[in-house]
Amino acid sequence: MIRLLPSIKFAAKSHFYLIFFHAVLLLHLCGCNATNKPDEYVIGFSQCVESDAWRKTMLEEMKRELAFHPNLKLIYKQADGNSEKQISQVKELLSEKVDILIISPNEADPLTPIVEQTFNRGIPVIVVDRKISTPSYTAFVGGDNYQIGKIAGQYAASLMSGKGNIIVITGLPKSTPAIERDRGFAEAIKSFPAIKVAEKVNGEWYKQKAKDELLKIAGSTSNVDLVFAHNDMMAYSAQEVYKEKGLQKPKIIGVDGLPCDSCGMQFVSSGLITATMLYPTGGEEAIRLAVKILSKENFEKENNLQTTVIDSTNVKLMQLQATKITSQQRSIERQQNVLENLKTIYKNQRTFTYILVFLLVAATTLGGIVFFSLRNNRKINKQLQIRNEEILEQKNKIEEMSSKAHEANEAKVKFFTNISHEFRTPLALILAPLEELLAQSKNQSQLQNLNLIHKNVFRLFRLVNQLLDFRKIEVERMKVRATENDIVSFVADIIESYKSIAQKRNIDLRLITNERQINVWFDASMIDKVVFNLLSNAFKFTKDEGFIHVYLSKTEDGKNAVIRVEDNGVGMAKEAVERVFEAFYQGEYENYKGSGLGLALSKELVKLHGGSINVKSEKGKGTEFEVRLLVGTDHFSPEDLAEGYTPSPIQYERDIYTSDLEGQQRTNREVSYNGLKEHSVLIIEDNPELRGFLADRLSSDYEILEAVNGQEGLQHAFDSVPDIIISDVVIPGKDGIAITNILKNDVRTSHIPIVLLTAKTSVEQQIEGMKNMADAYITKPFNLQFLQQSLKSLLANRSKLKDHFTGDISSSLKTQTVNKLDKKFINEFTSLVESNIANDDFGVDDICKQLGISKVQLYRKVKALLNINVNDYIVETRLQKAKFLLQHEEFSIGEVAYKVGFSSPAYFSTVFKSKFGITPKAFKEK
Ligand code: FRU
Repeated sequence: MIRLLPSIKFAAKSHFYLIFFHAVLLLHLCGCNATNKPDEYVIGFSQCVESDAWRKTMLEEMKRELAFHPNLKLIYKQADGNSEKQISQVKELLSEKVDILIISPNEADPLTPIVEQTFNRGIPVIVVDRKISTPSYTAFVGGDNYQIGKIAGQYAASLMSGKGNIIVITGLPKSTPAIERDRGFAEAIKSFPAIKVAEKVNGEWYKQKAKDELLKIAGSTSNVDLVFAHNDMMAYSAQEVYKEKGLQKPKIIGVDGLPCDSCGMQFVSSGLITATMLYPTGGEEAIRLAVKILSKENFEKENNLQTTVIDSTNVKLMQLQATKITSQQRSIERQQNVLENLKTIYKNQRTFTYILVFLLVAATTLGGIVFFSLRNNRKINKQLQIRNEEILEQKNKIEEMSSKAHEANEAKVKFFTNISHEFRTPLALILAPLEELLAQSKNQSQLQNLNLIHKNVFRLFRLVNQLLDFRKIEVERMKVRATENDIVSFVADIIESYKSIAQKRNIDLRLITNERQINVWFDASMIDKVVFNLLSNAFKFTKDEGFIHVYLSKTEDGKNAVIRVEDNGVGMAKEAVERVFEAFYQGEYENYKGSGLGLALSKELVKLHGGSINVKSEKGKGTEFEVRLLVGTDHFSPEDLAEGYTPSPIQYERDIYTSDLEGQQRTNREVSYNGLKEHSVLIIEDNPELRGFLADRLSSDYEILEAVNGQEGLQHAFDSVPDIIISDVVIPGKDGIAITNILKNDVRTSHIPIVLLTAKTSVEQQIEGMKNMADAYITKPFNLQFLQQSLKSLLANRSKLKDHFTGDISSSLKTQTVNKLDKKFINEFTSLVESNIANDDFGVDDICKQLGISKVQLYRKVKALLNINVNDYIVETRLQKAKFLLQHEEFSIGEVAYKVGFSSPAYFSTVFKSKFGITPKAFKEK
């Protein structure tokens, strides 16, 4: 599985790159369009009035121009010729955050402050048509009204041939076009003294107002040669008044010259008025100028639009041009519409294209993923196939091996079974004469030996029988021959076999039941094994003075008979509880080694009866086994029932199971070996029989110390410092090798020779033992003589070493191996004595303190290594030094005595003489 990961990673990476690439492409496509988009602007347009055609035309022109700038939005307000209203409308526009203000001020002065304010806030202001009274505006677009007035005046003068009366109809007096047109006109006719302005009427730019004012001066209208009205509407009113009054119509000049119906040009062409001055609205120009300002392009502040006179001579041409322009404008509008449509189509197509591109990208991505996945899948499949083949091959090999292992096991088990069978005859042949010898023998020590053999023969019998039974169950299915028995008397009978052991060990063995009789169908030759096993087990793990209680009962429903064996023995750990019924499981108590078959066999036997066996145990508290056997015969097949069959008496099983247990009751032997022997031996062995055997055999030559486990062994070694140790390798607690390691690395015990004794013959183990500085390694079964000889030679070597250390050893033995720690000890010990030679107070206590060991350990150690008593060694050293000083130095006897730590020269002399047979004085003289 792990081997597939790199390819999956690669595929994931490829997918990622593919998606990333497409995302970038898509973003790029959308992004191109976004970056070209112009900024959006809002134009506020404040119109003074809108009711007339001229203003409408201005707005139309603006809109037409705006059509070319979709990024511009127009907010339009008109003030109905009311300056107050216009001021508040400008304020509204400002609050709507316009980017630029276009204003045609109704009157100059009232509108000036708001325009100035706007301009000063940094908002560009374009003034159109009418002006204001401040230069604080951004730009102006419109006709030059002074020029219009002037040209009109000159034209009027030429029409009147330099003489005559004129009526002037003015626009709103405070609006700049009215002021400037009037000024221009006056300027032009000034040079014609014969021309007089007979009347000046204020028409306020309105048709009706002009008519009303003209009618007011009806009397003075008759001898008038020319009327100059400030716009065409007021000019029309003038011609109406003359027509209505039936008076000779004077020449009439208007201003604006719009081409529309009922506008200036039509009035001229139809002869209603004489001429009109072209006054362009500037709507289109104002928008263009706004665009320039907003896009920060260069622009002119003052933009005056051209004027011309339109009269009968050019009106047709002008109209034609206007029509042409109008039709062109219509065509432009149509084209614009088409363009708009195209734009919409383009937009739709663009959206469609995006969708298409997106789908394409998605499809390609998915395609890529599918491709990579497929490729990957193929790879994975290939790898899986290879793996499968490998696994298959392995499986075949395992099968082959397991079948071989099975065969080998079968062969082994068969061999075991056969050999077990073979064992039974010789065992029986040993048993018979042995029992005879036991009956005849009177010699106590011989009887002891024969008993030992007898117990072990039964032990072998039990092992062989269990092995054969187990084999029978495993391979051939043991046949149950059930008979109806009273389980109470059956179990009581078996318990009886353990009574004497219980008595000897002071174990409270009891059968506890409320039932006088419980009849159960079972094969007595099988269930007796189960009960014997459980009891043997309980006895093995229960200490002296403990209890073993056997409870017999029936379950409440009466369907089961229950045998419960309870003890307060050592108990088991959880793991042991779980595995206790496994065949060959040895458990954790190696000092109670068994075959590991008893409980496994019991379980199988109970199973053959359709029953159950369970265990409850707690370490240190005890164990409880419970066997349940079904009452009645329903669970048996007819051939399992063997009515009339009498199983063999339990005597045989009794011997097999109980003989072993008695062997553990050895009396405390130490007492009997208390004789004072030259050497002591510590035997660390968990098997009581073997320990007893060794103790027996070695007790004539050695002082015996015994330990049943590692911990006890170490304790004895440190407390008693024996001369030699024999230890089993496999023992409970610390094993023999660990013990050797500890003892050999402790100065108190490092000198003690250790013989490791074990049933394991592996060379590795021997090497391991030697590595840990064991002095000898003897494998079981061992020859007692060989063991005794080994002990002797190890002790002899030790004594040679002693000689070596005391200095009287021949050079040939100097190569003798000795523990480093021991060398160190000797060096420390001897140098300590030497450096304190002059100190008469110096003694054993000082040495123990300095070396950190107990007195016993010091005595034993020095005795073992130097074969001399510690105090003797100190005196010996003092005397040797004295000898040297007497020989080589010029000291008096008294001085020498003090120098070697004698408190008086007399005492020194006595000791010296007793050692060397000569007084110090005589020695010195010699
Ligand atoms: C329209 C109008 C025009 C005139 C202009 C002056 O409202 O009266 O006829 O030329 O305004 O601002």
